[in-house]
Amino acid sequence: MDLWLNPRLDRAAELLAGTATQASGELRLGIDLGTSDVVSMVVDAEDRPIGVQLEWADVVRDGIVWDYFGAVSIVRRQVAALEQQLGVRFGKANTSFPPGTDPRISVNVIEAAGLEVDQVIDEPSAVASLLAIDAGAVVDIGGGTTGIAVVNEGRVVYSGDEPTGGHHVSLTLAGSRNIPLEEAEQLKLQRGREIWPTVQAVFEKMADIVREHLQGHSVQSLYLSGGSCALPGVRELFAHEFPSLQVLQPSQPLFLTPLSIAAYRPMPVGNR
Ligand SMILES: Nc1ncnc2c1ncn2[C@@H]1O[C@H](COP(=O)(O)OP(=O)(O)OP(=O)(O)O)[C@@H](O)[C@H]1O
Ligand SMILES: [Mg+2]
Repeated sequence: MDLWLNPRLDRAAELLAGTATQASGELRLGIDLGTSDVVSMVVDAEDRPIGVQLEWADVVRDGIVWDYFGAVSIVRRQVAALEQQLGVRFGKANTSFPPGTDPRISVNVIEAAGLEVDQVIDEPSAVASLLAIDAGAVVDIGGGTTGIAVVNEGRVVYSGDEPTGGHHVSLTLAGSRNIPLEEAEQLKLQRGREIWPTVQAVFEKMADIVREHLQGHSVQSLYLSGGSCALPGVRELFAHEFPSLQVLQPSQPLFLTPLSIAAYRPMPVGNR
């Protein structure tokens, strides 16, 4: 995972910071409509990110696009920026949906933004496919939700979603320090190590929730995804809470789901 995945995720972070890139060969575009942000990512034929756009946006709540026109205009803007950067035109894109929600919502947004939908896949299945997980669980702690998916023989056999995420981490911090939410959010992003003791209990609660979802399933590893897993302390906490499991945390968990969506292609039948 470290050798193949982390350089790609690090590259995505660099691209967002403005590093120039060169495009060649077949390019694929993926669009992740999240509770905290909308991320559009372009990958090349080797699934290396070559363009990334991220906008913090409040267009999705509880896994549902509630600001439809806001979502469409962000997607249009991001795709136009990527097309300009890379000197190409995109006719189609992959997109995703949280398990248990209607995939047509994301499809409608992408189509209204003028793109054809190539693949539409639920988020943990996209991650499971990218990481070629055989028997494990994906824990995606995003902004508004924590998604748990159990993968067996490469297939998602169980998935659940809980309404706890990074937003609640910031709320806890704001409450305990008596500061505005926006200030707490910035503090969390910039001084994660320092604030960890204050928010640790929120993640302990998330670990309890994950444990409940995993009951009755046989898994060997936990794959941490989602921006909230970037907080220093999260991997160690999950490793402590699940001592019998291998806990894997990618270098830039914020980009794992968007990368998985962009890179997703269905396996030919009989290849598993
Ligand atoms: N370095 C970081 N340290 C701590 N938290 C972070 C960091 N980077 C991002 N986050 C948090 O991650 C969350 C966004 O993650 P992500 O993009 O995975 O969520 P999302 O996909 O928008 O939400 P959801 O999956 O719930 O719909 C936000 O709450 C943000 O504060
Ligand atoms: Mg997400």
